[in-house]
Amino acid sequence: MTQIVFLAVIGYISGSIPFSFLIPKLKGVDIRKVGSGNVGGTNVLRYLGGIIGFLTMTLDGFKAFVPMLIASLLFGLPQDRLIIIGFFAAIGHSYSIFLKFKGGKAVACTVGTLTGLKGWFLPLFLAIWTPIVLVTKYVSLASIITVAVMNIIVFFVSGVETGLWIFALLIFTIFRHRENIRRLLKGKERKTDLIAAFKN
Ligand code: G3P
Repeated sequence: MTQIVFLAVIGYISGSIPFSFLIPKLKGVDIRKVGSGNVGGTNVLRYLGGIIGFLTMTLDGFKAFVPMLIASLLFGLPQDRLIIIGFFAAIGHSYSIFLKFKGGKAVACTVGTLTGLKGWFLPLFLAIWTPIVLVTKYVSLASIITVAVMNIIVFFVSGVETGLWIFALLIFTIFRHRENIRRLLKGKERKTDLIAAFKN
């Protein structure tokens, strides 16, 4: 029990580091006041272009991936323990201790978590997510669908206990995207042109 609490705290503090807020701030932009107002890589990408957006998403992913990697390499923790770090990194990202318990929607952290479980989950995630974004231009839709598909795969590959944590992340993802879902249903969701973002 002590170990679980310790892993949760490490994950939460790491996830709280607000790269999606700090990187735009270096450029003089308060990401909370532009675009969707979301403290997340997608909003950074829309406002500051593809390269800075993906850099932000990568660092947000590292908040889950790096502590999981360290815990795996140094202490040989199994997946059903590593997932606790990743899960709470996603919580920290969304309710950051450094942003008065506000934050983003935790998709990049979820990708980092999946990568921390199995490295090949990353290309698989991107192989599902990218075409959906390119075709529909809805990042939120792509994120929800991809986390759901990955959840099914995790159940098969990593077992029920780890799969249940990812299921909890899926429910959390849907909860954090509730405004996006409302906008999608009304046809008013923001579109994101990935290719145009990299040309800016
Ligand atoms: O991962 C966040 C993305 O799915 C939605 O972001 O800025 O469109 O609310 P945003």
